[in-house]
Formats: sequence, C-alpha cells, structure tokens
Amino acid sequence: MKTIKIKAPATVANLVCGFDVLGMALEHPQDEMELTLLNKPQLIIQHKDKYGLPTTAEKNVAGVALLALMKAYEKPIGFKVVINKIIKPGSGLGSSAASAAGAVVAANKLLKNYFTKNELVQFAMFGEELASGSKHADNIAPCIYGGVCLIRSNHPLDIIPLKTPKLFVTVVHPQIEIKTSEARAILPKEISLKNAVKHWGNVAALVAGISQNNPEIIANSLRDDIIEPVRKKLIPGFDRVKKRSLTVGALGGGISGSGPSIFMFSTTKKIAEKVEKEMIEIYREFNIEAKTYVSKISKQGVSEV
Ligand code: HSE
Repeated sequence: MKTIKIKAPATVANLVCGFDVLGMALEHPQDEMELTLLNKPQLIIQHKDKYGLPTTAEKNVAGVALLALMKAYEKPIGFKVVINKIIKPGSGLGSSAASAAGAVVAANKLLKNYFTKNELVQFAMFGEELASGSKHADNIAPCIYGGVCLIRSNHPLDIIPLKTPKLFVTVVHPQIEIKTSEARAILPKEISLKNAVKHWGNVAALVAGISQNNPEIIANSLRDDIIEPVRKKLIPGFDRVKKRSLTVGALGGGISGSGPSIFMFSTTKKIAEKVEKEMIEIYREFNIEAKTYVSKISKQGVSEV
C-alpha cells in the first residue's frame, strides 16, 4: 500500500474543568487527508482548502509531526500529503490536532503500524507546539484514540481512555478567530488552594460521571471558576448561550478548547437540537455568523476511508 485516505475528527478539549487533561472526539466535522509513502526523505505538503496554511514542512503542523515520525523510523522515508481542511483553523475544535494526528496515523498505517498510539500522540504534539506554543495532548489524544481521553501526564505521556458516555453534543462556532497562544497567555499563572480544591473536586467527579455514564454527576461537575471567567470575555454571547442551553434542558457545557466554539452536552438528540436552535438565535441577535453541529461523541479517532 502506497497511498491512504483518512478522516480526522474535530475534538473538544478541556471539557470545562479538565484544562489540558480532558478531551473528546466528535463524529463531525472531520478533516480529510491523503498520504503517499515516498522512498526518499522528502515531505511534500499540498492544501485543497481555502485557508492558505503554510506548505513548508517546518511551518506546517502536519509537517512537523511527520518530521518527528520520520526521524524515529528505522530508514529514510518521505510522504506526499494532500490536506482538505473542513475544521476551520482557530475554531477551538482541534483543527491543528486533526492535521497533525491525521498525518501521523495515516503515515503509520502506510508503515504497517510500526509505532504505538502513544508514540503517534507524541509526534503529533510537535504540531500543537508549533500552533500554540504548548505541547498539550487533550485534542491529539482523543483524535487518535477516539472517545473521551484523560491525559494524566504530558511528560511522560500517560493517556487513560475513558468510557464513552451516551450523550449528544451541540457545538456553536461563532465565526471569529481566537488564537490558542493568545487564549493561553491571558490565563493566571497561579491559583489559590481554595480554588484548586474546588477544581479538582469537579475534575474527579466529571471523570467519575463519564465513567459511570451518569448525566447528573456530569451536569454537576461541568464547572470552572479558573479558566472560563477569563476566556469567556473573548467570546461574545457566551453567558447567553450557556443560560439558554440550560433552560432548554442541556446538562451543561462551556468553551470548546480555547474557543470561540462553545459546546453543550444533552441526554437526547431532541434536546441537543433545541440547544442548537437557541445558539443560532443568539448569534442572530448578536449579528455574528455562526456554524452549528449536533454530534455524538465519536468512539473512533482518525479513520481510513
Ligand atoms: N487545553 C488547550 C487550551 C486546548 O485550552 O489551551 C487548546 O485547544
């Protein structure tokens, strides 16, 4: 096999209180990518989309991830990569992670699964470092493993895949761009012990709620008094989306990754669609163009098509 086509899912990082340690894969949107194995150490990157992303390997998130993989492989190899981005960059839906994770998973399939999933996440993290200045894995891990992932530690990398709760996810992506690097730069460097105790109570409960597929525990633990109050200022309409989503029956939710997308969990598709209607209405009120998605949590990460 010399050429492979894959799809790489959008991901929601943080899941409100799990900053840098929790993330989940969505069924859609998904990026599309085609990789061809070359027998010389060369990396050709082409884009089929309209985003004007760099094609120099060292400046491209898929490129740096593949360079790390090529360096770790036993003999000189190269790839031609054709990317069709469906997940808009700067959306908070793991666009850079989809490119980096998609590229290394596809490459590994061409190499007959030479590397482990954990190694692939480590290669793809170079893409996150390039995109945001930080090597977090909370988009990359669920993009590769699928479902919901807990990243207990980045160094050494320790990923714990969790059970996939039976929930629907509504996402609204107001069409403004927030750079992850900027959304990280405004965060507090230190927090009080009192806030930390409250926070790790919520993270632990959220993991328990997800593992037990218990909507009540999940709803009670989707709280964040540390990151959300700072970042929500970058997202017009955030409080209104949250309030009206809860009013029509959502369990809870918050900023997707570093924003501007906002996600909400619901127990049924009907509620998730009501939430979507509210989101559309709110951004109409704000006169901001917005795209919405209703999706399940995807049990599968990057997949071959
Ligand atoms: N955990 C990261 C952040 C995710 O919130 O900055 C970025 O997509």
